[in-house]
Amino acid sequence: MSRLAITIAPISEIHATRWSPRSFDATAELTREAVTASLEAARWAPSANNVQPWRFVVGFRGDETFETIAANLMSFNTAWAPQASALVVNIAHTSDAEGKENTYALYDLGQAVAHFSLQATHDGLFTHQMGGINRDELAVAFNVPAGFSVVSVTAVGSLGAPDALPQVLAEREVAPRTRIELDEIVSYGPIETVAAAA
Ligand SMILES: Cc1cc2nc3c(=O)[nH]c(=O)nc-3n(C[C@H](O)[C@H](O)[C@H](O)COP(=O)(O)O)c2cc1C
Repeated sequence: MSRLAITIAPISEIHATRWSPRSFDATAELTREAVTASLEAARWAPSANNVQPWRFVVGFRGDETFETIAANLMSFNTAWAPQASALVVNIAHTSDAEGKENTYALYDLGQAVAHFSLQATHDGLFTHQMGGINRDELAVAFNVPAGFSVVSVTAVGSLGAPDALPQVLAEREVAPRTRIELDEIVSYGPIETVAAAA
């Protein structure tokens, strides 16, 4: 079944084909070189005042960093994410040494992760971001300094077969991909109605 985004105007192939699988090929391996382009794309994302408030901790399946990240996934993420080839902890620099908050830090980190994901798609890889993680434990494990916050983890790898997943997740893997309609999220003047959350 096609995972392609359905749009009313054509979008780039990378945007149309990116999706977040849970079935990763547990035999596929990635090298540092193979994810460097994605990390470079993240590095070159725009950010407020170009402060680049992001840091990334990268583990490859089989190494200690990966094991630590995998041990700090929450609930159902543990059922699938450890099969990915790499796990990346996404960290925001939320306040400086004087405690001054960067109100754009999370926005900018999300943008960097989006750039990472799209470059990975371009390179034939699949990504799946997760908020279901033990943030505090990851911060301690990776010596994350004060002023920085662990926000999410991205699984990276090659696509696996849906039926390699537990049944509930296998069903989700092939369920239609959905989005709120464009006219519910875009206004060309004052917003007249508040669209109900999906
Ligand atoms: C910040 C963030 C947190 C997410 N957390 C989880 C998660 O903990 N577990 C999970 O399976 N998917 C998680 N997702 C994936 C979303 O559910 C997924 O991106 C969304 O359903 C859209 O699907 P698509 O990426 O295939 O278009 C998360 C995505 C984002 C951006």
